[in-house]
Amino acid sequence: MNADTTADTTADTTAILEVRDLVKTYGAGRGLLARGSATRAVNGVSFTVRRGSTFGLVGESGSGKSTTARVVCRLASADSGRVLLEGEDVLRARGARLTAFRRRVQMVFQDPFASLNPRWKVGSLVAEGMRIHGLVPPARRRERAVELLEQCGLRADAVDRYPHEFSGGQRQRIGIARALAVEPDLIVLDEPVSALDVSIQAQILTLLTRLQQQLGLTYLFIAHDLAVVEQFCDRVAVMRSGELLEEGSPAEVYSNPRHPHTRLLLDAVPVADPRRRRHRAPLRSLEEDHASQP
Ligand SMILES: Nc1ncnc2c1ncn2[C@@H]1O[C@H](COP(=O)(O)OP(=O)(O)OP(=O)(O)O)[C@@H](O)[C@H]1O
Ligand SMILES: [Mg+2]
Repeated sequence: MNADTTADTTADTTAILEVRDLVKTYGAGRGLLARGSATRAVNGVSFTVRRGSTFGLVGESGSGKSTTARVVCRLASADSGRVLLEGEDVLRARGARLTAFRRRVQMVFQDPFASLNPRWKVGSLVAEGMRIHGLVPPARRRERAVELLEQCGLRADAVDRYPHEFSGGQRQRIGIARALAVEPDLIVLDEPVSALDVSIQAQILTLLTRLQQQLGLTYLFIAHDLAVVEQFCDRVAVMRSGELLEEGSPAEVYSNPRHPHTRLLLDAVPVADPRRRRHRAPLRSLEEDHASQP
C-alpha cells in the first residue's frame, strides 16, 4: 500500500471527510515580486464531516467558502494542510486514485450549467460521468439517465431537451441528477439554492433530504442564508476572512454564538444579500415560463 493511502492515526471512524489546517493563497505568484498582493482565501481551516450528515459552511461574501469547497473537490490546489476522505489523503492522490476520488466526491454549483456545453442534451450531460468512469454499459446509459431525472422529480422526456429549456429549479434538479450519475459518497453543494425563489428552494431542499435518506449521501452545504442552513444542516461552521470562527449544531451556534461576527451574520437580513436580489427577477420569470412541469 502506498504511503498516501495509510489511514490517519487520529482519524475519526464515523468521519467521511476531514479537513485539517487548510491554507490556500491566491495571487502570490512564484516570484519574489508577486508576494505583496497575495490573498489568503483559506487560512488554517479544520473541520470534520460525519458520514450521512449535512455540514453547513456559512459566512459573508469572500470569506473563503467556495475556495474551501474547490480545494476539497480538487478543483483548486492547496498551499498546505490535509484533506482526508475516509482517511485517504485527497490532495496527494494521483492517477487511478485521483479518478476514483473524482467519482466519489461531486460538486453542485449555484448555476449548474454555467460551465457546461449548452448544445448538449440533458441526457448526455447526465450520462457524462457514467461515460468518464465507465459505470454503466453504453447501451443502458440513456435509460439510467431517465431513471436519475425521474428520481430528481423531472419527466422522462427531459432527457432529449436542452438545459436552457428548463427553469432554475429544474436545472438544479438536472445538476443533482448529473452528480448522482456516478454514485458519489459526498456531494459538495456550493449555494445550490441561493439563486432560487423561496418556494423552489424548499422543493430542492426536500429533494436533497429524500436523496440523502435513500442513498446514504453526505453533504457539504455552502450557503449565505442562515435560515436555510438551520433547517437543513446537522452541523454548521462560520467562516470569515479565510478562518473558521466557530462550529456546532445550528441550534448551538445560532442561539448562543461564541463569536461576535456570528451575531452580526445572524442579524443580517438574508434578502439584503445583493446576489440573491440580482438573481431573483430573471429566475422568477424563467420559473413562470416553465411552471407547467410537475
Ligand atoms: N480564482 C481566484 N483568484 C484570485 N482570488 C480569488 C479566486 N477565487 C477567490 N479569490 C479570493 O479569495 C477570497 C475567498 O473567495 P471565495 O470565493 O472562496 O469566497 P466565498 O466565501 O465563496 O464568497 P461568496 O459568498 O461571494 O461566494 C476572496 O477574497 C476572493 O476574492
Ligand atoms: Mg462562493
